[in-house]
Amino acid sequence: MQNKEHTILSIDTSCDETSVAVTKGFRILSNLLPSQMKYHKEFGGVVPSLAKIAHQERIDSVVERSILKSGVEIENIDAIGVTYGPGLSIALEIGIKKAKELAEKYNKPLVAVNHMEGHLLSCLCENDSKSIIYKSNFISKEKQVKFPVLGFLISGGHTELILMKDFGNYTKIGETLDDSCGEAFDKCGRILGLGYPGGPVISKFATHHRKNVEVKVIKQNRSMQIKFRNIISGAEYLLPIPMAYSGDLNFSFSGLKTAFNQLVSKLQQENTSKNLTKNQVLDLCVGFEAAAIEQLALKLKNAIKIHNPLEVWLGGGVIASAQLRRVLRKVCKEFSSTKIVMRYPFSKKLTGDNAAMIGICAYLDLKRNGISHQPENGIYLKDFQLIDRNPSLSF
Ligand code: KG4
Ligand code: ZN
Repeated sequence: MQNKEHTILSIDTSCDETSVAVTKGFRILSNLLPSQMKYHKEFGGVVPSLAKIAHQERIDSVVERSILKSGVEIENIDAIGVTYGPGLSIALEIGIKKAKELAEKYNKPLVAVNHMEGHLLSCLCENDSKSIIYKSNFISKEKQVKFPVLGFLISGGHTELILMKDFGNYTKIGETLDDSCGEAFDKCGRILGLGYPGGPVISKFATHHRKNVEVKVIKQNRSMQIKFRNIISGAEYLLPIPMAYSGDLNFSFSGLKTAFNQLVSKLQQENTSKNLTKNQVLDLCVGFEAAAIEQLALKLKNAIKIHNPLEVWLGGGVIASAQLRRVLRKVCKEFSSTKIVMRYPFSKKLTGDNAAMIGICAYLDLKRNGISHQPENGIYLKDFQLIDRNPSLSF
């Protein structure tokens, strides 16, 4: 590995964030991600064609502002990093086109980065200012990382467990068979009428209301359920924990969503107003969050038992939930024979999609492969899903 701390301009347009960052080594000099939420909110989800238009409209100004904010002249940038997938292809194209344009204009190497590797390495991002939000037990130098690392990616598009034997050496050991965890949060949020995205609202309501609800895990006939009871009203509910006994490290959230929908319909029918009461909505937020998190915790526990990682890294939008981080930390602590280090990004901004995490991947790629490694003519748009500079990357 080379020791130079490369300065990288990176772009991520994989979904609905037009994000451009400048990083130096692991440090973030700028990381802009203007929200497109106002375009998508009324549709209850991301509309790809609208995301594309918004990326097209913004990309030039976001690049310009990100460079300005970083205080770095574009001529002094060492390389351009760009997300090539997975993501919405019509959205990815905008970022890739811009990255190619800049690489050609300024004669810089172009590094294609897998978006999921970005989430996986997002916990390595270091702050260049003082606005630390989360206090993670962060150690800044990559050589202090103890492999094997177990990566847990819990986002709006993915729920994956990744075994990482080294930087650039990744094996997917578990994934969702249907909805992602974030999708389940959003769909159940919509069922409760909490708008889009429902995940942060469910998590916020659950945080405030948790003290009023007793939650228990029930094991019966090789099935697992969450039983939750409002301790003031006595109202009691059940939700399933799918895949608890599947014997593998895969996930499923669609059964939980269906059961949640049925429970809401049943409660609505029983109420004379045909609507849920405020307390029922809050109880259901606590119960849903507990059921979703319990499945994640079970699978993490099994993955640790099988693969004995020395570190667990969390990434993806759902890890913004403090309750989720608390439960997963507890799982790591249960393994007292090895002290497992748990890491996650230092700020909420880095849990969701952002370009700084792409810059970190590009930096480590350059350290492994050398700056002279120039992809032939950059990325070909039609082939972007195929361009994977690292053969052992198996997301
Ligand atoms: O990582 P991300 O931006 O999406 C993808 O790259 O796919 O994550 C977005 C997801 C959404 O589903 C959102 O509802 C969820 O993360 N999310 C949360 C929280 N904050 C964001 N879910 C639960 N609790 C939160 N606090
Ligand atoms: Zn993402």
